[in-house]
Amino acid sequence: MRMKIDVLTIFPEFFREVFDFGIIRRAKLAKIVEINVCDIRSFTTDKHEKTDDRPFGGGDGMVMKCEPIFRAIEEIIGTCERENYPSGMKVVLLSPQGKQFKQSVAREFADEAKHLILICGRYEGVDERVNDVLVTDEISIGDYVLSGGEAAAIVLTDAIVRLLPNALGSETSAVNDSFTEDLLDYPHYTQPREFRGMEVPEVLLSGNHAEIEKWRKEKAFEKTLNFRKDLLEKEHS
Ligand code: ADE
Repeated sequence: MRMKIDVLTIFPEFFREVFDFGIIRRAKLAKIVEINVCDIRSFTTDKHEKTDDRPFGGGDGMVMKCEPIFRAIEEIIGTCERENYPSGMKVVLLSPQGKQFKQSVAREFADEAKHLILICGRYEGVDERVNDVLVTDEISIGDYVLSGGEAAAIVLTDAIVRLLPNALGSETSAVNDSFTEDLLDYPHYTQPREFRGMEVPEVLLSGNHAEIEKWRKEKAFEKTLNFRKDLLEKEHS
């Protein structure tokens, strides 16, 4: 098994079939990845199985309690001290406050992580002691607020698993993906050659690979310039 992923959530049903399609399903069957979904509620010890409570200091909404999350991590890893995690262990808190998730972060996780735990925050937030002690990376998938980290956990899992060695199969490759070189992807066409008067660009039918390559580079640049100029202006580190 190249990577193990544990998702911690109060809504395990949310994930019932989402990892059973396409590349993720194939990677699971090929034992490239193992994905477990753990119910945070099962780590509560009180009779009401409380996973949230009112915020100290007052204010709206509820805050996710730290005890069940600590217990879950302790059971899964065997320790809840970040310093004692085994190498390749990443404990990720999904929240809008996190570092922005990008293709480069997906690549870093795919290359370096052996075991990923994704904690899905809910309500107004998660008790900060989870962040202080357990979490190695706090990650946001974008500048908008979701009702919880569940959808974000799916985004991370998908983007990371497809980069694991052999996950894409021989017919495809991640090398030409959008963002790999800070460019959007070029346009694609397949049969039929003409559809409702719309023709496939002539160059793609020419068989001239150098010309096709040149056209694709130009189109990728054009798309990036039109929709994501920021990618071209980015400083390269
Ligand atoms: N939870 C709520 N909003 C989120 C976001 N933008 N990214 C990750 N987790 C979240």
